[in-house]
Amino acid sequence: MAKVLAIGNLVLDTVLITDHFPQEDEELRAESRLRQPGGNAANSLYVLTQLGHHTSLVTTLAADQEARLLTQVLQQRGIDLSHIQRKLKGATPSSYILLNQQSGTRTIVHYRDLPEVDFDHFAKIEIEAYDWLHFEGRNVPELKGMLNIARTFCPELPISIDLEKPRDGIEALLDKVNVLFTGKHYAQAKGHEDAAACIEALRTCAPQALMICTWGDAGAWWQMPGGDIVHTPAQNVRVKDTLGAGDTFLAGVIHKLLQQATPAEAVHYGNELAARKCRQQGLDNLLAPLADDQPLAKSSDISAAKATIAQVPGRDTTVILIRDKDTDTIKAYINNCPHQQVPLNEAYKVDVNPFAKTLKCSVHDAWFKVEDGECVEGPCQGDHLQPFPIRIDEAGNIYAAIDD
Ligand code: FRU
Repeated sequence: MAKVLAIGNLVLDTVLITDHFPQEDEELRAESRLRQPGGNAANSLYVLTQLGHHTSLVTTLAADQEARLLTQVLQQRGIDLSHIQRKLKGATPSSYILLNQQSGTRTIVHYRDLPEVDFDHFAKIEIEAYDWLHFEGRNVPELKGMLNIARTFCPELPISIDLEKPRDGIEALLDKVNVLFTGKHYAQAKGHEDAAACIEALRTCAPQALMICTWGDAGAWWQMPGGDIVHTPAQNVRVKDTLGAGDTFLAGVIHKLLQQATPAEAVHYGNELAARKCRQQGLDNLLAPLADDQPLAKSSDISAAKATIAQVPGRDTTVILIRDKDTDTIKAYINNCPHQQVPLNEAYKVDVNPFAKTLKCSVHDAWFKVEDGECVEGPCQGDHLQPFPIRIDEAGNIYAAIDD
């Protein structure tokens, strides 16, 4: 476990989940709305906290209601806020984000008038107490002093920077960093055709750095000083929400580098974690398995004479799997008896009558039809077991077919 200090803007993200991206001048109703902390460094720290690190955010904080909400959530997330700089003027920075469910892409409109952390504030922090220092690549005049002081007083402290967008004069500061994260947005704005060209162009500015340039779902290109440029492809997953995927990638890389992994291992893990993030909404519980991560069972193991009880990965749910003899298909029901809301195997195993094609709750002997889960005998006659959606792949593995 390491101590990571990150410097960046804390943002209130208002996320509107929509079923398509609107046309200009269209009126669109969102399906739901989330309000949550955002900002690249704050997002990365939340992921690093989940990975077991002590994290601390250096940011400015407005005096408004939104700032109070954000500090509360960040504290719940386990991020230390003892180095925040309070500002009387300006409001909490806000992002209004459309999350298009069709594609999983996020479109961000950002507004801020809050001043950013200044050098004098940063200079008072005991950075010697940290194992890693991470900066958002912004606020160039102040950043220059911060990098200088960090490099001078803590020459061994690893420093990373996130160069998301071009900022005047920022390239001149890159000789101080050990790890440089950049990406498509910066590269394209600078007129580079691809990630490799961007790395090559930046190399003279950052001679010491592991340079990493991400390119959306194409993955990441990276290079050690004096080494070749290497491509590590992204994992191909069903995308639900890309908001914060880049910040998650960065956290994954820092985590592995803190563990002395090689750059190749670190980038690979960053990709893996970013892909995992894209499969779910938000950044909570990123390390927990998702419901369709592992198979529930093999279809060849499911018989008509015996009920199989399987645990849904990452969920507090078990399901009953049984073969329907008539159609030779597999039926799946949530393991919950409608009579008293208890698992059917609470008292004993789930008995099956293969002739009547029924299965029995062990608690009060309610019998359910395998075919459609209807209770045909017992205390909840006429009620049904709740079907559970499954999918079976070509290899015969049965998976939960639910959205996390
Ligand atoms: C995602 C994000 C959002 C924030 C925006 C700021 O990477 O950090 O949480 O609103 O970018 O640019």
